[in-house]
Order: sequence, then C-alpha cells, then structure tokens
Amino acid sequence: MRTEIPADSPRLGIIRRYFDRLPVSESTPIVTLHEGGTPLIRSARLSEEVDAEVWLKYEGLNPTGSFKDRGMTVAISKALEDGSRAVVCASTGNTSASAAAYAGRAGLVCAVLIPRGNVALGKLSQALAHDARVLEIDGNFDVALNLTKEMATAYPITLVNSVNPHRIEGQKTGAFEVVEDLGRAPDLHVMPVGNAGNITAYWRGYREAQQAGWSGTLPKMYGFQAAGANPIVRGEAMSDPRTVATAIRIGNPASWSGASEAADSSGGAIGSVRDKEIVEAYRNLAAEGIFVELASAAGVAGLRQLKERGLVPPGATVTCVLTGHGLKDPDWAIAGAARPKLVPAEVRPILQELELA
Ligand code: F0G
Repeated sequence: MRTEIPADSPRLGIIRRYFDRLPVSESTPIVTLHEGGTPLIRSARLSEEVDAEVWLKYEGLNPTGSFKDRGMTVAISKALEDGSRAVVCASTGNTSASAAAYAGRAGLVCAVLIPRGNVALGKLSQALAHDARVLEIDGNFDVALNLTKEMATAYPITLVNSVNPHRIEGQKTGAFEVVEDLGRAPDLHVMPVGNAGNITAYWRGYREAQQAGWSGTLPKMYGFQAAGANPIVRGEAMSDPRTVATAIRIGNPASWSGASEAADSSGGAIGSVRDKEIVEAYRNLAAEGIFVELASAAGVAGLRQLKERGLVPPGATVTCVLTGHGLKDPDWAIAGAARPKLVPAEVRPILQELELA
C-alpha cells in the first residue's frame, strides 16, 4: 500500500522538509537524494569520559556519505533553476562525491578539481562512478579552489563549493535537526573545520532556530582544525598544510570569517588537534560501532581537549558532528588493522584461533 509521506518527515529530503527556510520557491526543480534526517546517537563512552551528555550527529549516513549532501541538494537545484548546464568544484573528496551524484541526477555536467594524490579512495570512486570529469591538479586544495573561482567567473559554469551561498543554506539544516531531536540547542557544539563552511552553516542554523522559537538558547561553537593545517588558529594562511585527515588539509579557508564569527559571538573558539589525537578518536568511535573518516574524528578529539581545559561543564549537553563515513577511506581503516588470518575450513581450529575453545 502506498501512503503519503508526512510533510515533516525527515525522509522528504531537506528542501521539502524546510522549504520555507531555504532560498527556494514553487518553481525550483528539487534535485534530491532524500538527504538529511541523520541520527543523533548518544555516546555512552564519551558521555562518561567527559562527564556530559554527548550526542553524535552521524552525517556519514547521508546519501553520498557526508554532510555535503545537505548543501548540494540546494546548490544543484538552484543551478538547474538558473539554467546552468555545468557545475564545477574543488575538493578534498567529499564535495566532489556529492556534486557528482547530484549533478548526475540533474543531468548537469560536473567538473571536479582535486589535489594531487590526497583524495581518499572511496571519495574518488564516487566521483568517477557518477561520471564527473575529474582532473588532478598539481597543487593543494587551496590552489584548486582558486582555479574553480576563476573558471566560474569567466565562463558559464556554476561553482558549487561552499563559497556558493546555497551550500551554506542547505547545511544549516543540520542544526535544525539537532534542535528538533534534543528539544533545544546543545550547550556546546563541537565539529571539525576545513574550508569552514560547515561551522558557518551550523551557527546560522542555531541562530535561526532560536529566532523561530525552537530553542531558547544558543550553543557555544567549537571548531577544530588539524594542528598541521590550522591557519585560523595561527591567524595566517598556510601554503603547505599537512595532516593525515586529508578532508581538512586546507591552508586558506574560504569561510574563515564565518568560522571566527561563529566562535567569537557564541563564546566558543577555534582550536587544533594533533594527528595522533585524531587517529585515537577515530579508533575509539569505531570501537563503539561508529565508523567515520579521520577528519570527522577531529571534533571528538577536540572535545577531549575542551574537557582537559575545564571547558565542559559537568552534565552539559554536547553535540559532535561526525561529518563523513569511514568507508570513504578504506585504505586508512585497513592500514591500521591486523590482516585476517588464514585458517582451515573446520570449526575446531577456528575456535582455537579465537581462543574460545
Ligand atoms: N569533514 C569532512 C569529512 C569533510 O569532507 C570536510 C570538508 C570537513 C569536515 C570540513 O568542513 O570545509 O565545511 O569546514 N571537505 C571539503 C571537500 C573541503 O572538498 O570535501 P568545512
């Protein structure tokens, strides 16, 4: 039996779900993969560790495996509405995976510029599978982003990086969902920062949720860069950012001012965490059943740092955004683990090997 999906169902995708709060109209052709509606999962282990209520917004469960889909559904729908025939993006991987999928759905050509050798296998496989025109640039993400900006200025191509305001609009819906699930905004909101679009978007979302009367309060916003790629913390752009978390290997974030504004006006901060701490948080999350990519673990590593610095009030409600799925980077997951051992196809030796008999 076919039933009508209720107008407030998360299964509708974020444009239909939050139609009145997004830059769309009845004439916007909605390009959706039913993104959003991702779970907010309580972490028993982290809650105990930092003596707070820690909730994980698992954005890896979006259609292409990252939070980018929230912004991409709006950016691609608007590109189609505006008569665009091609879109372009620079990417450390996830933006390109998302752009390729949504552009494919809309019938638009998708061009992707990626930094040479620094895109995780899963993300590259997505862009290729969705038939994007993928070009490797002999330079890092920041170089690639500048090239795409030039292309979009001089030619009729729509830029779908988060400098496109429709991306930020779509991504703010992550904050709406957190507020819906908690019944109010959290006390602290913690997340990774790369190009700084997402922290800009969440802050906007929380403020709009407050204005709409959904929450009486606003969270303190804490964003974390990797220590080898932390231009905002240093206060100057970096020409050679380095981190194992390739998704946030960015030396000159496009939404720098948005990130600073979120941190400053909320009473939070932008900090940085070492690669070692990111890897540890990644492993701990996986041990709790939650598979994320390295960059996504930067927020959780950051939460630990906040705890050490006495910045997590006992019993506080904390949300951490887990931005991308662990399957994005299978090489990394395998590299850190023991290879499966070959055993005879018999029960006894298997049980012996498992030390269960
Ligand atoms: N986490 C993941 C998994 C990401 O892919 C990104 C950014 C971020 C965090 C940081 O978000 O840029 O809004 O501050 N990835 C971009 C990309 C740069 O090209 O996929 P941000």
